Amino acid sequence: MDVNGHNIRKEFPVLGREVYGKRFVYFDNAATSQKPTGVLELHDRIYRESNANIHRAVHRLSAEATDLYEKGRSAVAEFINAQPDGCVIITSGATASFNLLAHSFVQRFVGNGDKILVSEAEHHSNLVPWQLACERVGAELVAIPIEESGEISLDKFESLLDSRVKLVSVAQVSNVLGIVNPIKEMVALAHAKGIPVAVDGAQGVVHSDCDVAELGCDFYIFSGHKIYAPAGTGILYGKRALLEEMPPFFGGGDMVGTVTFEKTTYAPLPLKFEAGTPNFPAAACYAPALEFADAVRKNAALRAEERCIMMFLVERLLKIDGLHIAGLPKDMEKKVPVISFSVEGAHPEDMALILDKMGIAVRSGLMCAEPLVRKYSENGLLRISLLPYNTMDEAEYFLECLDRTLKMLG
Ligand SMILES: Cc1ncc(COP(=O)(O)O)c(C=O)c1O
Repeated sequence: MDVNGHNIRKEFPVLGREVYGKRFVYFDNAATSQKPTGVLELHDRIYRESNANIHRAVHRLSAEATDLYEKGRSAVAEFINAQPDGCVIITSGATASFNLLAHSFVQRFVGNGDKILVSEAEHHSNLVPWQLACERVGAELVAIPIEESGEISLDKFESLLDSRVKLVSVAQVSNVLGIVNPIKEMVALAHAKGIPVAVDGAQGVVHSDCDVAELGCDFYIFSGHKIYAPAGTGILYGKRALLEEMPPFFGGGDMVGTVTFEKTTYAPLPLKFEAGTPNFPAAACYAPALEFADAVRKNAALRAEERCIMMFLVERLLKIDGLHIAGLPKDMEKKVPVISFSVEGAHPEDMALILDKMGIAVRSGLMCAEPLVRKYSENGLLRISLLPYNTMDEAEYFLECLDRTLKMLG
C-alpha cells in the first residue's frame, strides 16, 4: 500500500467534510480513529456479498464469512507478533476484554487477601472490572503511583510486588498523558517474582511498534476501532497456559464441546471465550485496518512528521499563560501525540464547545480516567490526540482557534 503524508488523507473520506460550514479538524483520535477506504469497502462488501453466520453452517456464504473472520484474527496475530504459546481472542472491545480477563482470571487465580496491581493512570476499563472481581473474592486492588511527570517509578513499582500480588495490569500508554510506560522492565520485575502481567494496549498499539514477544507480557488487550477497524472489535491476546486454566466468561453458542443438562464441556481456545455471534463483518476488517496501520508504522517519514507536529504543539501550548500540560516526561521520546491540558480560568467543556463551533473535535472532561485526571485538575482536562493523517496546517489552525477561544472566555 502506498502511504505517504500527501495521499494519506484521501484514504479517509470523513476528513473531507465540513462542520458548521468550517473545515473539519479531527483531534479526538484517542477516542476512536477514522476509517480508511479499505475498511469501509470490505465492511460494505461483506454485507452485500458474504453475509452469513460464521463457524456454524456448511453453506458457501458461511464458509466465506468464516474465512474473512479468521483472516482478521490472523492479521492481528501478525501485527502484534503473537507467539505459538499465545492465543488471539476476538472480543467486542478493550472493555469487553478486560471484563473477560478480570472475571475469569480472578475466579481461577485470585483469592481472599490477594492483590491485583494497576497504575493510577488507568482507563476505567482497566480499573472497574478489577474492582468488581476483587470484591467478589475479597481481594485488594492496589494502585501503582504516578509521578508528577506522569511516569511510573520502577523502584516504587518493585516495592509493591509482594507475595500476595497475583497480577499486574497496566497501560502501555495512558489515554490522558500519552506517556509510554516501561512495560518491558515492569514485566521483567514482575516475572522475577512469578507474577503475570496484562497490558492495556488500547493506545499503545496505535503509537508503538507493538510486539508482544518483545514486551514479554502474559496478556495484551486493545480495541480495533482505535486502530482503523470498525467499532465493536477488541482483542484479548493471552498465554495459552493461563487461558486454558481460566473458566469461560460468557456461555452460549460456539463456545461449547458437548452440552447436556448434567454437564457442558467447552470448545478449545480461542472459541471457549467467543460465545455467541460476534461482530464478524467488523472483525474481518482487522485485515485492511492493520495492513494500513502496518504501512504507517513502517513509514519513518510519516512518523517523523507526526512527532514534529506534536513537538510544535507542546512548545506552543507551553507558551500560553496559565496553561498546564498533564504529564510531561523529560525525555519526550516517551510521549506519543496525546496531549491533555488545563487552562486557569477556562473550563475544558467550554473550550471544547467553542472549538467544536470552529470545526475542531477535541475531548474534554475526565476521559474515563477519573482518579488520574483529578490529580491534575478538578474540572477535567482538554485532550488533543493525533494520528498520521493530521497535518501541521491543522495544528496551526487549532492554536489560532484556541487563542480566540481563550480570549472569549477570558
Ligand atoms: C487506554 C484505554 N484503555 C481502554 C479503553 C477502552 O476501550 P473501549 O471503549 O474501546 O472498550 C480506552 C478507550 O478510550 C483506552 O484509551
